[in-house]
Amino acid sequence: MPEVWARLEDVSIRYGPKVVMQNLSLDIVDGAITCIIGLSGAGKSTILRLLNGLKRPDAGRVFVRGQEISTLRERDLISIRQTIGFSFQFAALFDSLTIGENVALPLREHTKMSGEEIDKLVSETLESVGLGNVESRYPSELSGGMVKRAGFARAVISNPQCVLYDEPTTGLDPIITHILTNTIKKLRDRLNGTAVVVSHDLGSIYMMADYVAMLFEGAIIAYGTVDELRRSPNPIVQQFLQGSEVGPIPI
Ligand SMILES: Nc1ncnc2c1ncn2[C@@H]1O[C@H](COP(=O)(O)OP(=O)(O)O)[C@@H](O)[C@H]1O
Ligand SMILES: [Mg+2]
Repeated sequence: MPEVWARLEDVSIRYGPKVVMQNLSLDIVDGAITCIIGLSGAGKSTILRLLNGLKRPDAGRVFVRGQEISTLRERDLISIRQTIGFSFQFAALFDSLTIGENVALPLREHTKMSGEEIDKLVSETLESVGLGNVESRYPSELSGGMVKRAGFARAVISNPQCVLYDEPTTGLDPIITHILTNTIKKLRDRLNGTAVVVSHDLGSIYMMADYVAMLFEGAIIAYGTVDELRRSPNPIVQQFLQGSEVGPIPI
């Protein structure tokens, strides 16, 4: 049996009358890349927020490395969050800081590295996502795609055990998509780290996913390797993978 990095156990979430998750359970395998797919509004981002304690379930439990985090106090969550990188869907950089300062933030806050060491690591990490010589620029001076990649660099700079990526390649061109997909794989290979990737980009999912979980109407309706998912007899999975408007998914 593979080791489990995190586990959602019978998680339910609702907003007012709207049920977003109903007794949802999912294991995130340690050292693997798990991709989460599903329609807009299915609850994919919510799964990432549950995994680093930004969101608490209304019922059910969330475990990270065997520790239940859904009941931890905010200040006890901080040390867990330091082991988890989060690449937000919208890069969430500080406009008043340069790109270099933004990417350096996790190191300044949580390590005792010297300014020189930090500068070196910042430029190496930016290079690894295809961004050279942008340290002194401000977010407003870069394209949306470049800002997104800078957010990605910030998420991985402190070599976290796990990185959560919310739509890392949405809106980016195929070349950058390829670079980022490879970066996700390299990080996992180098650190034996875990990644959870919310993505709509089937090409990059097929390239990187060890496991794919499909979320539909509040539950995980399919889980397995890419091959297993492609062979799934479930018509909802097939419709989603084929991007067809014909099928059981209400449009
Ligand atoms: N703070 C909130 N208040 C009310 N509804 C919310 C809130 N956050 C998320 N939702 C709803 O929960 C559902 C799941 O959201 P989300 O996890 O962002 O979906 P996805 O990332 O799959 O598009 C959506 O229908 C969304 O409208
Ligand atoms: Mg989302």
